[in-house]
Amino acid sequence: MPEIRVAVIGVGNCCSALVQGIEFYKENRNESLGLMHWDVGGYLPSDLRIVVAFDVDGRKVGKDLSEAIFAEPNTVPHLVEVPRLGAPVLRGPTLDGVGEYAKDLIKLDEGEPVDVSRELRRYGVEVVVNLLPSGADEASRWYAEQALEAGCAFVNATPTPIVSDRKFGDLFRTASLPAAGDDLMDQIGATILHMGLLRFLDERGVRIDESYQLDVGGGTESLSTLERGRDVKRRIKTEAVGSAVPYRFPLVAGSTDYVDFLGNQRDSLFWIKGRYFCGAPVTIDIRLETMDGPNAGAVLLDVIRAIKLAMDRGLSGPLIPVSAYAFKRPPKRLSLEEARRGFEEFIAEG
Ligand SMILES: NC(=O)c1ccc[n+]([C@@H]2O[C@H](COP(=O)([O-])OP(=O)(O)OC[C@H]3O[C@@H](n4cnc5c(N)ncnc54)[C@H](O)[C@@H]3O)[C@@H](O)[C@H]2O)c1
Repeated sequence: MPEIRVAVIGVGNCCSALVQGIEFYKENRNESLGLMHWDVGGYLPSDLRIVVAFDVDGRKVGKDLSEAIFAEPNTVPHLVEVPRLGAPVLRGPTLDGVGEYAKDLIKLDEGEPVDVSRELRRYGVEVVVNLLPSGADEASRWYAEQALEAGCAFVNATPTPIVSDRKFGDLFRTASLPAAGDDLMDQIGATILHMGLLRFLDERGVRIDESYQLDVGGGTESLSTLERGRDVKRRIKTEAVGSAVPYRFPLVAGSTDYVDFLGNQRDSLFWIKGRYFCGAPVTIDIRLETMDGPNAGAVLLDVIRAIKLAMDRGLSGPLIPVSAYAFKRPPKRLSLEEARRGFEEFIAEG
């Protein structure tokens, strides 16, 4: 049986959704509901095996991953029964992983951090998936270095520039390891929906005059974004959304605020104003309600399998089509259609 041996950095809401998803699609072997790809170059979702994870919260460290993913302060709903996985959550170094706003929600484990690169080698990890909070730049870079040292491919879901950073890109290339990132693009998140709406209006002859997309969410990640990632996220999202049409117009896209009782829910507001036939005005004003963690699941399943495929093929350095398809800040931005086509061609090659 093929197997992809994965380590996760940060056992938060995204990790919880990913682990639940692997179990869901293992149990429902012919059920591709909610996935963009059932098969990626011969790999199925059930081929992913998370063998070890790293966190700093005492309610997660020392537990089996199946238990840790449901520990506070995670808020992803318990959608799937997860059996004991035999994958331990080990104590990583804290570095800048916990910001001022989130520090009251996280109870730091009092134990000593483990030697991360040694553990990655000990568990035979092939792919490291970085799911640290937004703004934990030092920690994200440090874990990328650990992956390099241990000979692992790297997926960066966070906004910290790693795969789009020339220095890191070169390091992965020199180490003959593939990498994909940065800042995961949700399956049906605000950015991709906003891009799709603008693209549709442009194709239908509408001249877009102005648009914004703002959202609020609960969960520690919303708090981390509010404190340390808001400007960066806003820049990345606005740049990504603006690339959907071939001209510039007043545009704002980004996370705005934290509403604790929303839990893992994210509410996104879209406002688009434009002109169509004979200059007649048109306005779109809609609200999208999603769950943050599950929104990352299908895309992570695609990327992890694609990066394993790249390893099988001996590819190294930043993966251009994979990153453009699955991330908001790829090393090279492609249009939605080019990125999708590039990804399909990538998995069909071989
Ligand atoms: N749909 C999505 O949720 C989505 C979409 C795009 C990008 N992302 C990115 O994915 C990342 C994870 O999001 P999340 O909602 O799971 O975040 P989260 O806050 O729920 O989880 C982060 C986890 O990292 C742990 N952590 C903090 N410092 C650490 C350290 N030094 N070492 C190990 N673990 C540490 C925390 O204890 C927590 O368990 C974020 O950077 C976010 O921007 C998520």
